[in-house]
Amino acid sequence: MEKERKLIIAGNWKMNKNVAEALDLIQGLKRELVQVKEVDMVVCPPFTALSEVSKQILDSNLRLGAQNMSEHSGGAYTGEVAAMMLKEFSVRYVILGHSERRQYQKESDELISKKALAAHAVELKPIICVGETLAELEGGKTEQVLATQIRGSLAGLTKEQMGETVIAYEPVWAIGTGKTASTEQAQGAHAYIRSLIAKQFDDTVARRVRIQYGGSVKPANARELMSQPDVDGALVGGAALEVRSFADIIKNSI
Ligand code: PGA
Repeated sequence: MEKERKLIIAGNWKMNKNVAEALDLIQGLKRELVQVKEVDMVVCPPFTALSEVSKQILDSNLRLGAQNMSEHSGGAYTGEVAAMMLKEFSVRYVILGHSERRQYQKESDELISKKALAAHAVELKPIICVGETLAELEGGKTEQVLATQIRGSLAGLTKEQMGETVIAYEPVWAIGTGKTASTEQAQGAHAYIRSLIAKQFDDTVARRVRIQYGGSVKPANARELMSQPDVDGALVGGAALEVRSFADIIKNSI
């Protein structure tokens, strides 16, 4: 399948896997995916496994991502991790503004944009998550919510930085629920997000930005979702925790 943009499929392990389990998963993924060149493949383990995983994937086609970072570059921020600290482990990507953080840690679009700027300052590529809740979907507010989140969380980025940013469209009602957006729903939301980026930046940037779909992505629905013109990859939660399912999502997407 010839796509305009290279697919990027990332596994968000969330708060799962100790170091031994993480290394097991990585060994399996390396074995299964050694031939894959068509997709940018990213694993996002918890902070505690970044060091060991980073050593294990040095000689592979897997890239490393983190699940969060501080908006500050250092100092008296107990419990926080700075972008530069992630760079020490060859982290290339960082998930920002995941709906779980928006919900449980009350992360705002303004905070997410500060984090995105801090990530770009050290050449880490942010994966910025947006998406509506079930109540917002049912209230017909999807576009309004996406417009607010995109405007706020991408505020202050240069065109160049935007081109190096990944967006993950994750309808909150589809995360971990087994409910997936229909391919039409996903394509519609992705095309809308791209139009917002074109307005906020320009057409060239909008054409370049990769927009992942996230929310109950499985081997069985990956091919259809990835075949949509504006779906440029996936952010995978539950199905990224097993070698078989994550590898099959990637193979089914090619
Ligand atoms: P899920 O999670 O694939 O388990 O629905 C996706 C995510 O939260 O990124």
